Amino acid sequence: MGTSDTVGTQAEVFNYGVVRQFTIATIVWGVVGMAVGVLIAAQLIWPELNFNTPWLSYGRLRPLHTNGVIFAFGGSALFATSYYVVQRTCQARLFSDKLAAFTFWGWQAVLVGAVITLPMGYTSTKEYAELEWPLDILIALVWIAYAVVFFGTIAKRKMRHIYVANWFFGSYILTIAVLHIFNNLELPVSMWKSYSAFAGVQDAMVQWWYGHNAVGFFLTTSFLGMMYYFVPKQAGRPIYSYRLSIVHFWALAFTYMWAGPHHLLYTSLPDWTQSLGMALSLILLAPSWGGMINGIMTLSGAWHKLRTDPILKFLVVALSFYGMATFEGSMMSIRTVNALSHYTDWTVGHVHAGALGWVAMITFGSFYYMIPRLYGRSAMANMGLVSLHFWLATLGVVLYISSMWIAGVMQGLMWRATGADGTLTYSFVEAVKATYPFYVIRLVGGLCFLGGMCVMAWNTFITVRGQTHSNPVIPQFNPDARDPAMRQPATATA
Ligand code: HEM
Ligand code: HEM
Repeated sequence: MGTSDTVGTQAEVFNYGVVRQFTIATIVWGVVGMAVGVLIAAQLIWPELNFNTPWLSYGRLRPLHTNGVIFAFGGSALFATSYYVVQRTCQARLFSDKLAAFTFWGWQAVLVGAVITLPMGYTSTKEYAELEWPLDILIALVWIAYAVVFFGTIAKRKMRHIYVANWFFGSYILTIAVLHIFNNLELPVSMWKSYSAFAGVQDAMVQWWYGHNAVGFFLTTSFLGMMYYFVPKQAGRPIYSYRLSIVHFWALAFTYMWAGPHHLLYTSLPDWTQSLGMALSLILLAPSWGGMINGIMTLSGAWHKLRTDPILKFLVVALSFYGMATFEGSMMSIRTVNALSHYTDWTVGHVHAGALGWVAMITFGSFYYMIPRLYGRSAMANMGLVSLHFWLATLGVVLYISSMWIAGVMQGLMWRATGADGTLTYSFVEAVKATYPFYVIRLVGGLCFLGGMCVMAWNTFITVRGQTHSNPVIPQFNPDARDPAMRQPATATA
């Protein structure tokens, strides 16, 4: 790697080149993925926006949106932050620059493949695993390379201790490898068509074991890795309780694995499996909130900073939404609640409370911390724009999720309402018509959120283009120094 990949006094010490590449990719994919989200939100109000073109139809653009925001935006953000955090906390350069470069270009090739094949209608039909077998194989190769780079860096670390954020990143990397490989066992029948190796209820169970753990590990555990590094850093305080972070880690990893059946309540899945899934989903609330509390309490003694620091605002609001979405998810796992919420827009509201409120917000906060450090700047070029982004994003989430909650509960109640003679009170179309105003509110929320994302893209552009600051915020490299913001177990007071 040349000097352009390294910064200031840390020349030849860290590989920041690949972190920067993934950072820029995250922002580009964020704009693209969310723009597609806004388009499909508009199509639900004005269906003619598909212009009678098959590749602009809702059924094809919806998986493009989910793949775009989860794997392109979220995935690139996780590559960027995990590579940054593992290098800094291990005080070691990435295990292999070449393999790291392969993960970047390989991952981008998968994503471009998705952008081409999904609108063309190629799909394995499994939600969040729609890509066809050639892309599945490429994903597996990239992921194995990712694991080698990440764990290889941990193996060559200069610190004895493995900081807890790395445990979270590590478990996400391992779990996603297992989930991806098993859920995508399939028989190819042509270049772009395959059939699942599983059938019937087993197929459904494997799919939602995958689907739920994709939420658990791709959208949660990994982002908790981000939280455990960037919240203490930005707050300038050690983690509230190091011991809680360890308990949180093991409890979360154990419990998530069992909760998949809550996606299949009232189906032909054996009853005991559904009950087990429901019970473990309720238990899941405890480690989830343990993590949230650990993050929020890290601000003890630094609450005053919230008044002026928009980056900290992003991080704290993200944690609040994490707490809300997990509470909501546990409640929706209760069979009687699910009888009302399933198939309605309540589920979509829950998804975006987690996706926008937690995943996207924690990413924004972490990136605003990381970007100036990657480029040797003292701060983002325009902190006013960071504040503007915060308010646009917060308003966007609130409009999105509150409209979907109301719409969802309304739909559930309308579908189940019956007259004295047992006939349905409302036809399905009446429920659809009643939902329109809420779809409009959701669209406005989506536009705010996308607007915020564009503001971030602009701010990043002017930050990257700006002058290197004479006094960049990057601390001098010192392999023996322990980061004061990270309390180690030896000094932990629980
Ligand atoms: C501007 C922001 C966004 C807008 C306007 C938006 C809009 C939408 C719409 C209209 C749907 C389809 C809902 C339906 O079929 O009824 C959807 C689904 C979905 N979106 Fe988004 N979205 C946005 C951002 C995100 C982000 C950042 C993520 C993840 C990090 C995300 C994850 C998902 C998922 C997982 C689904 C599928 C939900 C389900 O199957 O229940 N979205 N989104
Ligand atoms: C304690 C934690 C959580 C539990 C117990 C939980 C539970 C649930 C339940 C019961 C459903 C509805 C299933 C259905 O009726 O079809 C659901 C859907 C979903 N949740 Fe969660 N949730 C949790 C946290 C989260 C978080 C933090 C996120 C996002 C970051 C998230 C993303 C999703 C997605 C994407 C779906 C839609 C899946 C689909 O049908 O396509 N969940 N969750």
